[in-house]
Amino acid sequence: MNIIIFGPPGAGKGTQSSYIVSKYNLKQLSTGDLLRAEIINKTEIGKKISEIINRGNLVSDSIVAKLVENIISNEKHKNQIIFDGYPRNLNQVNDLNELLKKYKQKIDLVLNLKVSLDIVKKRISGRSICSKCGKIYNKFYKPAPINSNCCSEKFLKKRDDDNVEVATKRYKTYEKETEPVLNFYKNLKLLKEVNGENPIDQIYKEISDIMAVI
Ligand code: AP5
Ligand code: MG
Repeated sequence: MNIIIFGPPGAGKGTQSSYIVSKYNLKQLSTGDLLRAEIINKTEIGKKISEIINRGNLVSDSIVAKLVENIISNEKHKNQIIFDGYPRNLNQVNDLNELLKKYKQKIDLVLNLKVSLDIVKKRISGRSICSKCGKIYNKFYKPAPINSNCCSEKFLKKRDDDNVEVATKRYKTYEKETEPVLNFYKNLKLLKEVNGENPIDQIYKEISDIMAVI
């Protein structure tokens, strides 16, 4: 099964994807994570995009499509992908449709986590990510374990785009560019709305219930 998970910054896409991935043995395809890896590895793409990301704008569709194709084209992940943060505009919907056709796949479910800007600001300001294992934490809602070898203070990092100003810009970009995409999937009767303001476990339970009948 291929799934898309939508939601504004801090909605919990990464958090919920990590649970879904382990339960259903899917591959998480986070375009944000792929783009950040390009920056860390100082690739040609990485050099072009760090400023764009840190201003809260979208990276060019063609760059993102290439990164997505690298994963969709891998037989190992065929029909076993959760798209986290892709597609983000109507042009990317077309790109994804072309790729799915090319590699004989389809989307089975689209989840939309709805969260207000006020909650987003708090979640983004409290987030840290373990640079060793990639686990996502939050000083208000999901603190990292104490006395852990892996997710200890020295490995917990904040993202460069995680401040209230850029998060607000990202939220506005989401409303303008990404929300129109939801209608496309609604018309295909693939869209399920989820209240992303509930506690993490409750949201995961709701998503599991939805997935159980797909
Ligand atoms: P991306 O990395 O995708 O960022 P985003 O969409 O802004 O979303 P986040 O990763 O910030 O939030 P999340 O929904 O994953 O939340 P999380 O689970 O971490 O993209 C970054 C940038 O890359 C974009 O701005 C753009 O520039 C570029 N980009 C990416 N994709 C692109 C594309 N397709 N095209 C063009 N450009 C692209 O949770 C957040 C925090 O809240 C955590 O601390 C977590 O512990 C906590 N939390 C989660 N759920 C709950 C809950 N239910 N209750 C309480 N706390 C919670
Ligand atoms: Mg994320």
